[in-house]
Order: sequence, then structure tokens, then C-alpha cells
Amino acid sequence: MASLLPLLWVVTFLCADLTEGVTITSTEQTMVTKAQGEKVTLLCTFTLTPEDESTVEIEWSILEPNGEEPVIIYNRDKVYDKYRMIGRVQFIEQNPTSGDASIDVLNLKPEDTGTYQCKVKKLPGVQTHRIHLTVLEKPTKTKCYVEGSQEIGTDLTLKCKSQEGSPIIIYSWKKTTGSQELPATALPNANTGDLFVKNASQAYSGTYTCFAINKVGTDECSVILTVKPPIDRAGTIAGAVIGTLLALCILAVFIFCFYKKRREKKYEKEVHHDIREDVPPPKSRASTARSYIGSNRSSLGSMSPSNMDGFTKTQYNKVPSEDFERTPQNQYFDPPKVAAPNLSRMGAIPVMIPAQSKDGSIV
Ligand SMILES: *[C@@H]1O[C@H](CO)[C@@H](O)[C@H](O)[C@H]1NC(C)=O
Repeated sequence: MASLLPLLWVVTFLCADLTEGVTITSTEQTMVTKAQGEKVTLLCTFTLTPEDESTVEIEWSILEPNGEEPVIIYNRDKVYDKYRMIGRVQFIEQNPTSGDASIDVLNLKPEDTGTYQCKVKKLPGVQTHRIHLTVLEKPTKTKCYVEGSQEIGTDLTLKCKSQEGSPIIIYSWKKTTGSQELPATALPNANTGDLFVKNASQAYSGTYTCFAINKVGTDECSVILTVKPPIDRAGTIAGAVIGTLLALCILAVFIFCFYKKRREKKYEKEVHHDIREDVPPPKSRASTARSYIGSNRSSLGSMSPSNMDGFTKTQYNKVPSEDFERTPQNQYFDPPKVAAPNLSRMGAIPVMIPAQSKDGSIV
């Protein structure tokens, strides 16, 4: 015991020697974690001893790989704070030299993360204290959705993911309607946010809420699960097939009608040619017929194509009949007596005219 006493004395002396001069007393705070946008108070309280002569100087800096970068300085009754945190940093005391050099940093940003050093100088006394600050983002923009078909008997996954937020984010799920209990077959993964549900049953339907939590905040989202009986796939396929067939039938009818119409038109033209070839007008009649036609043509010339269509159709229906053969006779023997109904029939002739004149040899 006696041998220990001098040692104790030495230790006491050393400590006394070490505490001589400036002593920072707030040594508890070494690590701080805060959320983005929040405010942090970095503590730096100190005591002075009469041995120190010069005026007190306080310097807060952030430790960078290439040295110390100033944050805020108090020197000769003046505050210097126009450094990297302009407008966001201040001493909490009006006069920090009286023993409290703590600072507030407002509206924290993730890039404020780093090691901060408080240096109190009253030469020859100097002491420093370091605090590591971590600025984290709260989980935000958390999205929930169901992956997989929501049918009885299938496996599905409720997904949950925060698009923003600092790691580590822990996810948890709760059912917030009905039984308020997660399905018996549910397997949550706290790291990925997945809630795997095996062999879904209708009783699992309801609202599920996911909580995304990290050191500085919580976010949540909800998703509604609706487990339904499986869709009748055979019925759906049968429906699709029938629908397709129906559509094809309609298409076929359209195509058929289209070609039929075209064939009729073509036939019409052929009929005109036949008329021209089969019934060459006698020379004597030709002039009469032509004069008549000529007078009639002008009135027909004003017909719109749509009128013409209807007109040629009537004609087509009637041309193969014996009426046509009779027409020239009426025309020849009694041109003025041509009846109105006959006019329409004979009107077919003007349509032929261009072909005739083109084919000059016949005229
Ligand atoms: C799925 O769940 C039903 C009851 O909801 C059960 O009868 C069936 O055996 C389960 N199937 C499997 C493969 O676990």
C-alpha cells in the first residue's frame, strides 16, 4: 500500500498538469445522428485557468482528408461564419468566451456529415474536442404494390420500397383491416420490404400497411389485397376464339360484297360493249338516234355521278330484257313518241357514246 502512494501522487500531479489551461468539459458528445433538415447542437463547454494569458479564441472546423476546413470562428470579440455553412451556423451564446462555445447547425444536409472539431485556445493553453455528425435522409416516397395474380391458391408478394432515405431502412408489414393479423403463410423480409404470401386464400384480402423505418424517420404506404377465385381461363379462351371467328365472318361477308359489286360493274361495262357490237345502228337510224342522243346528253351531262350510278343500275337490270331490242324501233319509226319511261331506258345510250366516238370506226 505504501508503495502505491507515490504513484498515486504522480498520477494526481500529471492530471493536474494536464488540466492546466483550457479544459473542454463537454466530452460526452462524440457521435450525433440527425435527419436531413433538422437542427443539431454541437456541444463545446470549457473552463479556463489563470495561467492562460492571451484572449480566448474559438475555432470550429470540419476535418477533411487534406486538413481542417473552418466552420465558424470567434476571435477578438468577433464572429467569423462565412465559410461552408453560410447562414446555417451560429454560436448558441452571445459571448462564447465565457465558457460555452457550442454551436447550432440548422437545416442539416446529408453533405454536412463529417467530423467536427471544437478548438479552444487561450495561449499557451489549447484543447480540442471532436464530434462525428451523421445527417441521414428519412425514408420517403415509399411505394407499395402487389406482385403476382391475386387468385386463390397462388403465391404472391406484397412489395414495399422507399425510393429515398438513408440506409439502413427496416421494413415491416401490418394488416390494417379485418383480422389485423398477417396471413399464416406470410413471410416478411425486413431488409427488402417483401411480404411473401403462399397459397393465398380469400381471407387474406384486406388493406396492408408497410412501415419503412431508419434511424431518423418513418414512412408508410398501404396496398389493398383482393384475393379472388381463379379466372375461368377456358371460358376466356373460348370467348376469344368465338369473337375472332365472328370478326372473320363479318370480314368475309364484306369482302364478298365488295367483289360482287365490282364484278357487277365490270359486267355492266361488258354489256355496253356487247350492245355496241351486237346492235350496230343502221346508217339511216344512226343520225336520228344520235341527234336524239345529242339533245338528251346535255341534260344527262348535268347528272351527278351518284345519280348516274343509280341510273346505270336500272339500266343494267333492264338491258338483257327484250325492251332494249324494241327501243331502236320506237326510235326509228316514231321518235317524238318516246315515252318518259323509255327515255330513262334509252338514257343508257349516252353512256355508250364516248366509247363509240373513241372507237370511231363503228360510228
Ligand atoms: C392451400 O390452402 C387451402 C386452404 O385455404 C388448403 O386446403 C390447401 O391444402 C393449401 N394448399 C397447399 C398446397 O398448401
